[in-house]
Amino acid sequence: MENVLGGLDFDRTDDLKPRDFKAALKRAQSLVSAAKLDVLGRHKGDLTDAMQYALAGGKALRAFLVLESARMNGIDTRTAQWPALAIECIHAYSLIHDDLPCMDDDDLRRGQPTVHRKWNEHTAVLAGDALQTLAFELLTRPTGIAPQVQLNLVRSLAIAAGHSGMVGGQMMDIAAETCGTPYGLEKIKQVQHGKTGALIRWSARAGAVLTEADDAHWQALDTYGECLGLAFQIWDDVLDIEGDADEMGKAVGKDADRGKATFVSHMGLDGAKEYAAELVHNACTALDIYQEQGDCLREAARFVISRRT
Ligand code: IPE
Ligand code: IPE
Ligand code: MG
Ligand code: MG
Ligand code: MG
Repeated sequence: MENVLGGLDFDRTDDLKPRDFKAALKRAQSLVSAAKLDVLGRHKGDLTDAMQYALAGGKALRAFLVLESARMNGIDTRTAQWPALAIECIHAYSLIHDDLPCMDDDDLRRGQPTVHRKWNEHTAVLAGDALQTLAFELLTRPTGIAPQVQLNLVRSLAIAAGHSGMVGGQMMDIAAETCGTPYGLEKIKQVQHGKTGALIRWSARAGAVLTEADDAHWQALDTYGECLGLAFQIWDDVLDIEGDADEMGKAVGKDADRGKATFVSHMGLDGAKEYAAELVHNACTALDIYQEQGDCLREAARFVISRRT
C-alpha cells in the first residue's frame, strides 16, 4: 500500500521484533522489489526499465543491514526503507558499471544478461548514473527523518560511494590488472575496503546514524561493518574460484585471468578463508554492546562466509 509521501506501509506492530536472518533477508528482498516499482514503476522507457532491471534479483544484503541496524536502534522499517533502497541503488549502479567492457567486461549478472548486453553501453552508463542520483533523492525525501540526520546520511553515503570509498577502490582494482608488480597486503586491504567495504560499512552504521546513537553504539556497528565488508569481498573472491557459475548467476574464474589483486591471490584459498573467519569473529564480538539484539547481524556475518551465491 502506498502512503502519502510514497513508499510502502508496513505492519508496525511486529516491526521492531527480532527476526531470524533468513526471514529478515527475505523481507529486505521484498522491500527492494516492491519499492523499486513504487519509485520507478510509473516512468516508462529504456532508462527506467534498465534501472529497475538492475535493482532486481540481488541478495539485498545491504538493504537488510540498514533495516536490521535500524531495528536494533528502535527505528521502524517505514522510516528505514529510504536508506535501505538508497544503498541498493548505489550498489546496483556499481554493478552495472563494474560489468562494462571497460571494467570487468561481464555478460551475466544475477543470472541475466548484464545491462549493457541487454540494452547497450550508453544505457548502462546512464542507468548507473541515474541510480546514483536517485539514491540521494531518496535520502532527502520528506519522510519524517530529521533534516540533520538526512544530511548525515547524504554526506556519509557520498563519502562511502566516492573517490575515497567505492569508486576509489574500483579504480585501484582495475589498476592492479596492469601495474606489473603485485599489490602487497596493505594495498589489497585498501582496495577491498574501498570497492566493497565502504558501502557495507555505511549500511551497517545506518541504524546508528538514524537514531543519532551514542559513540559506543555507533562504533560497534562501524567495526562490525568494517570487518563484514572485508570478509564479504574475501568470500566473493573465494567463490570466483570455488563457486558454481549457474548457482551464482555470474561468471567465475575471472579474477586470476585478469590479474586482480585479491586476498586469495595474496594468501591462497586456505589463508583467505582463515582470515575471513577471523574477521567474522571480530564482527560478531564488536556487537557485544547490543547483547542478544545483535544476533541477527551475527547470523548474517556467518552467512557471508558460508554462502554459495
Ligand atoms: C557483488 O555483491 C559485488 C561485490 C561487491 C562483491 P553481492 O554479492 O551483494 O551482489 P548481489 O546484489 O547479491 O547480486
Ligand atoms: C565489484 O567487485 C565491486 C563493486 C561493484 C563496487 P567484483 O568485480 O569482484 O564483483 P563481481 O565478482 O563482478 O560481482
Ligand atoms: Mg570488479
Ligand atoms: Mg566484477
Ligand atoms: Mg568478484
